[in-house]
Amino acid sequence: MKILLFGKRGQVGWELQRSLAPLGTVIALDHEGDGPLCGSFTDLAGLAACVRAVAPDVIVNAAAHTAVDKAESEPQLAGTLNALAPGVLAEEASRLGAWLVHYSTDYVFAGSGEKPWQECDATAPLSVYGKTKLAGEQAVAAACTKHLIFRTSWVYAARGNNFARTMLRLASERDQLKVIADQIGAPTGAELLADVTAHAIRSAWQQPALAGLYHLVAGGETSWHGYARHVIDFARQAGEAIRVAPTAIEAVPSSAYPLPAPRPHNSRLDTRKLQAAFDLRLPDWQVGVNRMLVEVLGQ
Ligand SMILES: NC(=O)c1ccc[n+]([C@@H]2O[C@H](COP(=O)([O-])OP(=O)(O)OC[C@H]3O[C@@H](n4cnc5c(N)ncnc54)[C@H](OP(=O)(O)O)[C@@H]3O)[C@@H](O)[C@H]2O)c1
Repeated sequence: MKILLFGKRGQVGWELQRSLAPLGTVIALDHEGDGPLCGSFTDLAGLAACVRAVAPDVIVNAAAHTAVDKAESEPQLAGTLNALAPGVLAEEASRLGAWLVHYSTDYVFAGSGEKPWQECDATAPLSVYGKTKLAGEQAVAAACTKHLIFRTSWVYAARGNNFARTMLRLASERDQLKVIADQIGAPTGAELLADVTAHAIRSAWQQPALAGLYHLVAGGETSWHGYARHVIDFARQAGEAIRVAPTAIEAVPSSAYPLPAPRPHNSRLDTRKLQAAFDLRLPDWQVGVNRMLVEVLGQ
């Protein structure tokens, strides 16, 4: 199997380089590309030429405009990266008879209510990021039958900056923390996304009827406040120098931190369709977060 991976340096792209390797030959590109191969999502003609030159069996797109607040002030760029470029990849994949794997987000939903969103629920994005990601999903599904689209949420990785690292730093510096408690979701590791992607590609390769849209997040749910408490408790028990007392981590509403892009309150995603289709069990979010913390804390 020849796999063309875009966004190899992102959280998910980095883990995909590892998880896709056993499936065959992986040609992995960042936005700078590789020699004549264009990896830039702002160069749509170059992107199409790249796919034609490589002629892959599977394209995996882990690149996106993921700066949610910045997207509000650069909607055109967000639209190019999140919708037009995936559309080009879908057209080229279809022309080759190749599979296209693409990632989307719970931000396609309005974030109301408390029920986990199902794949068939009505979308109503609140932000430019959400709107452009929805347009990307639609472009992929319209142009390429052999697609796997995974909607996920609250992605973290041990590599680079993440929420847990920020909380650990603040917890070692401050006596008090205020963390948002009215947004609910499931922290989902890039490792888990990459591992499930590899498994799903292998399954869909054998069973093309598995093509479609799936929700993919870790099991269970929490708030950012619950996530922060978990991370800080773990570090305290591991003997890290934590300054903030457990009772001094205050739960606050989203309104305490106004941001350019509104966040959904309900980021819960129902993953039953994916678990049934691919015969998988998604572990609770604490499993992946604890592994990441061991790595981050250098234990
Ligand atoms: N992060 C989350 O919490 C979250 C939640 C839900 C869904 N998702 C979705 O999951 C997928 C992976 O997200 P992630 O967290 O791994 O993203 P990430 O770490 O922010 O990485 C984004 C990737 O996009 C690439 N990129 C940015 N501008 C580009 C351009 N002009 N041309 C080509 N590539 C460009 C970057 O490449 P360079 O490094 O080469 O610049 C980088 O590899 C995305 O589809 C995202 O929408 C993420």
